[in-house]
Amino acid sequence: MAEINEVMRQIRERKSVRVFEKKDVPQFVKDEIISAALQAPTAGNMMLYTIIDVTDQEIKNQLSLLCDNQPFIAKAPMVFVFLADYQKWYDLYQAAGLSARKPGPGDLLLSCADAIIAAQNSVVAAQSYGLGSCYIGDVLENCEQVKQLLDLPEYAVPAAMVVYGYPTKQQLERKKPPRFQATHIVHTNSYRKMSDEELLAMYGEQDTNESIKNIYERKYTSEFALEMNRSASEYLGKF
Ligand SMILES: Cc1cc2nc3c(=O)[nH]c(=O)nc-3n(C[C@H](O)[C@H](O)[C@H](O)COP(=O)(O)O)c2cc1C
Repeated sequence: MAEINEVMRQIRERKSVRVFEKKDVPQFVKDEIISAALQAPTAGNMMLYTIIDVTDQEIKNQLSLLCDNQPFIAKAPMVFVFLADYQKWYDLYQAAGLSARKPGPGDLLLSCADAIIAAQNSVVAAQSYGLGSCYIGDVLENCEQVKQLLDLPEYAVPAAMVVYGYPTKQQLERKKPPRFQATHIVHTNSYRKMSDEELLAMYGEQDTNESIKNIYERKYTSEFALEMNRSASEYLGKF
């Protein structure tokens, strides 16, 4: 059998880290992580994203409050916001004398893909330097305040936020949550709608209904989920 290679080992071992050592990220490592993000595939080689490197502690504090009040954001030594950014191309077209149409939903989705792929490259690179990371989906909330805080123009939308830092021993020892089986995730040639039985088997926990209800209440009907949808509609409304 083929040996597990280093990249696969690191991908399997990566898990979200939410408690960090009080240790700064050396500039060289930060530069490497940014370099990895910039080397990611990008639609039309246009780099439809901007990375905001949040170094100001007050801005971190504000983000930690605006992103569903998650205090570990403020404690992270490195915080990047990955913006899906069509603004710069819209402006560039004008600068080149073109009367550009305003960006549409397809442009937004493509730039979100660009931003998130760059973010994931940064996560993989961070892991290779012993840094933990965690995505913060809640950056989609409170668009009015986030836009003001980061001075965002109309066509730049936070697609992802990632916080990075050296994991504490407890975080290193924490078990990574398991994934669903590939048979439930990979469909061949066309979409296969799963039966109720298969869906429940996919989830496969004891007290399945009870624990699905728990996720439903925490992730789908909770205040943060409703706020995220309200706020994201505001961003989308511009496209
Ligand atoms: C798009 C996205 C948004 C996320 N948002 C948050 C978040 O706001 N807060 C948090 O603590 N973790 C967040 N996470 C981390 C997930 O909870 C985590 O990836 C998931 O539980 C699987 O665990 P693992 O990353 O340790 O394998 C997010 C992950 C993704 C991909």
